[in-house]
Parts: sequence; C-alpha cells; structure tokens
Amino acid sequence: MSILVLKNIKKTYLLRNSVFEKRKSIEAVKNISLTLEHGVCLGIVGESGSGKSTLGKIILGLEKPDQGEVCFLGKNLHNLNSKELKELRQNLQVVFQDCYSAVNPRLTIGEIIAEPIRNYKRLSSVEEENQVQQLLKKVGLSPEDVHKYPSQFSGGQLQRINIARAIALKPKLIILDEAVSALDALVQIQILNLLAQLKEEFQLSYLFISHDIQAVNYIADCLVVMHQGEVVESLDDMEQLEQLEHPVSKKLLSSILPPFPKLF
Ligand SMILES: Nc1ncnc2c1ncn2[C@@H]1O[C@H](COP(=O)(O)OP(=O)(O)OP(=O)(O)O)[C@@H](O)[C@H]1O
Ligand SMILES: [Mg+2]
Repeated sequence: MSILVLKNIKKTYLLRNSVFEKRKSIEAVKNISLTLEHGVCLGIVGESGSGKSTLGKIILGLEKPDQGEVCFLGKNLHNLNSKELKELRQNLQVVFQDCYSAVNPRLTIGEIIAEPIRNYKRLSSVEEENQVQQLLKKVGLSPEDVHKYPSQFSGGQLQRINIARAIALKPKLIILDEAVSALDALVQIQILNLLAQLKEEFQLSYLFISHDIQAVNYIADCLVVMHQGEVVESLDDMEQLEQLEHPVSKKLLSSILPPFPKLF
C-alpha cells in the first residue's frame, strides 16, 4: 500500500478586490494525481506561485480541495471523523520555511518539542523531559538546551528544533515546505544531511517542496515539476535529472550551482 495517493486534486481561490470589481479566481492546483511510496522522498519543485504549498496544505488538511481525494495510509482523509483524523494525523507532520514563526517565543524548547507528545501521550514530566532530550540529541543539539528559549538559537538550530518536534511522534510522512530555503548554503547541507539520516533511521517518507532543484536533487529519490497548478514533468530516478525536458524544468536546472559534495 502506498503511503499517500492524491487523485485529481483541484483548488481554486476566489479573489475579491473590491465590491465593484468582477470576482477573479486563481486555479492554484488544477488536476493533480500522484503517489508516494513508503520510505521515499518525493521532491515537488516549481517556480513561485506554481501551487506547491497549496498542495501541501491540502494534504495536511489546512485547505479543503474543491475536488479530488487525499488517501493517507489507505484512508480518505475527507471521510474520517475527528477521532479517526486525530489518530491518523500523528503520522503526518510538517516543517515550514519560517523557523521563527513556527515556534512560540514564550515557550521553552522543551515545551515546544513536547507539544505533540502532550497531545497524544500521557507521560510523567520526567519521562517527557527524557524524550525531549533524546530528540534534541537526535537532531544534533544538546539535551541541556531543553530549558532555553527560541531567541537563544540560530535559524539553523531552530530548524533542528522544528524537525525534533516533527519526529517526536515517529510519524510516517513529513511535509517539508521550503524547509531549508531560508538557511545559508552550509547550514542547508547540514540540515539536508540530518533529514537524510532521520529518513533512514525512522523509515520516514518525505514530501520535499522547494523552488530549489539543487536541494531537491540532494535529498529526493524522485521528483515532480509543477507549473501553474499542474504537474508538467516527473522523474522516477534522480540520475536522469539532466534529461528533464519541459521549459520550466530547464529553467530550474539552469539555476543549478556546481553540485554539493555528498557527505552521507
Ligand atoms: N489563501 C489564498 N488566497 C488566494 N490565493 C492564494 C492563496 N494561497 C495561495 N494563493 C495563490 O495560489 C497560487 C499558488 O500559491 P502557492 O502558495 O501554492 O505557490 P507556491 O508554489 O508554494 O509558491 P512559493 O514558491 O512562492 O511558495 C498563487 O497564485 C497564490 O497567489
Ligand atoms: Mg510555497
């Protein structure tokens, strides 16, 4: 069974500039069908506005599609009651680009990482702190960071904290929406390596959304190219990256720098 199956997903946003103007609409996602297998990282690449984040939000249930089905772990997300959805939702996590706004500055790192654990498990405070410290170690931070606040960390460290929170419930799928795009090149490689290690260790699947085909090439096993709400090209094997043919794919490829050295 595939971990995620999208069937004919469509999402149109209605825009109203003023009461006198005719309503305009944007077809953010036109008719997307795709399948993601267990343990695989699927890259979704495309220019700004091509509908990547809208697709991610639909999978996360943050946006409702006008049409189509999202099947996660064999279940249609839109046919579940709230209890079933909560149960399934622990297997689906997200890391966004803006690591600062993803955390509450008034909470300690321990409280931030423990948030999903508190939603799903009843642990004593000692057990909870132990789990959080283990998670901090997994993402390359010190267990002593548990009592610190977000303002005491760099962007790269904060993204590690967001990743620790995302893996806290041992999910099956993580949606990474431009998760490394705001970081400088060296930190990007470090976080991509961390994500690759965690993927192996916990047999995670990733949906790696990015406008940066180089970062996608570094981590993804396969890829789809989106343009104006549609999948215009796909690759099952990243070795064939140079053979992409669509003009948008070629444009994204032409922005590639010399390859990152593989460190894993
Ligand atoms: N809530 C919304 N209301 C109206 N239009 C929206 C909304 N969210 C997205 N859009 C529009 O839908 C289209 C797709 O947006 P989306 O954010 O999915 O693109 P993206 O590929 O993630 O872009 P980026 O690389 O800049 O993040 C864009 O034209 C955008 O303006
Ligand atoms: Mg986006």
